[in-house]
Amino acid sequence: MKTKFASRMKSVPRSFIREILKVTTDPEIISFAGGLPNLQMIPVRELEAAADKVFESDGTRALQYSTTEGYYHLREWICKRYLEKKGIKASPDDILITTGSQQALDLLSKVLIDKDDRVVIEKPGYLGAIQAMSVFQPKFNAVEVDETGVDTDKLEKVFKAKKPKLFYAVPNFQNPSGITYSDAVRKKTAVLCKKYSVLFVEDDPYGELRFEGNDMPAVKNYLGKDGVMFGSFSKIVAPGLRLGWVFAPKDIMERIVTVKQAADLHTNFLAQRITYQYLLDNSIDAHIEKLRKVYGVHAKAMLSAIEKYFPQEVAYTRPQGGMFIWANLPKGLSAMDMIKPALKDKVAFVPGDPFYTDVKDANTMRLNYSNAAPDVITEGIKRLGNTIKKLIGKGCAKK
Ligand SMILES: Cc1ncc(COP(=O)(O)O)c(C=O)c1O
Repeated sequence: MKTKFASRMKSVPRSFIREILKVTTDPEIISFAGGLPNLQMIPVRELEAAADKVFESDGTRALQYSTTEGYYHLREWICKRYLEKKGIKASPDDILITTGSQQALDLLSKVLIDKDDRVVIEKPGYLGAIQAMSVFQPKFNAVEVDETGVDTDKLEKVFKAKKPKLFYAVPNFQNPSGITYSDAVRKKTAVLCKKYSVLFVEDDPYGELRFEGNDMPAVKNYLGKDGVMFGSFSKIVAPGLRLGWVFAPKDIMERIVTVKQAADLHTNFLAQRITYQYLLDNSIDAHIEKLRKVYGVHAKAMLSAIEKYFPQEVAYTRPQGGMFIWANLPKGLSAMDMIKPALKDKVAFVPGDPFYTDVKDANTMRLNYSNAAPDVITEGIKRLGNTIKKLIGKGCAKK
């Protein structure tokens, strides 16, 4: 029997990264493909101690059904952190705990996007957002980002002409490009969203991972009561906990609660309890400080190796935090066509294509530096540099 699938599935791309991760299980391959936090930085003993304490104090209660909004004390903790770090006031009622911020993307898309609605994303943009939103069949308008953030002139043109419902962005150490919005771009983005009544969706899983420069206000600081924010414990504690959150105004929150109930009743309560206990018993600031230092060293190792081993024609970003560098290959050199030769040379990366809604055969690629050790990064970049040089030598790059 031929299964009759919903038409919406035609427009949903498979996660390219998951596909690449499948072929990088070969231990000889150095992978810059995943967006994986460094395993050595996961506080496993501290989480183990927190779990022991939770089982001892709560027993079976830690394993009972719980509320859709999430564990109250964890939501309260998130509010305190917003106030302390960003000066943003939130009450636990404004926060809902999700199964990673990826679920926040799915739930928000569900309550907002009808087929053919206009949605603005960054170019390049987070592929997981493109995938989550695609299920609801919007029409995407992608607006270029450069070293200072989204191009606000183009953003205004798109807002004016297309009247989109929302603009989704990652202003801190963006995935995939590693770029960070300047304060002026943040302010202007907020002004434009207000002027054209576009909901700003600010996804910030990397904001705490700054190893250079000064912290910036959130776009939300300039939006006042408007706008939605996503947060995540994946990059600051552990991704396997699958804990994220959404911070949204009341009318949006009410609807998100409803679709969350329909999706999974509530986020894993045991994970919420253990994480809260971990946060109570340990200094998250001290842990984040360690992460910042280590990722800074990794980024530096990758940048030095790129400088040494990549041909001069390759341009690349210089992130001040987060986990990614974005490289622009010589014109006409398809990053997609480079995957096979690179794997042959025992190195993996993610080509630019899945981060665009309107570009094919891109000459761009994303390189992750958080996962591999600095000496391994150097060796991997050396290999990748050779692959690029060989392809240029074969005349693969067009003039
Ligand atoms: C920009 C961005 N948003 C959301 C996510 C999803 O993260 P999680 O579901 O683990 O919180 C990621 C994961 O890498 C990401 O890069």
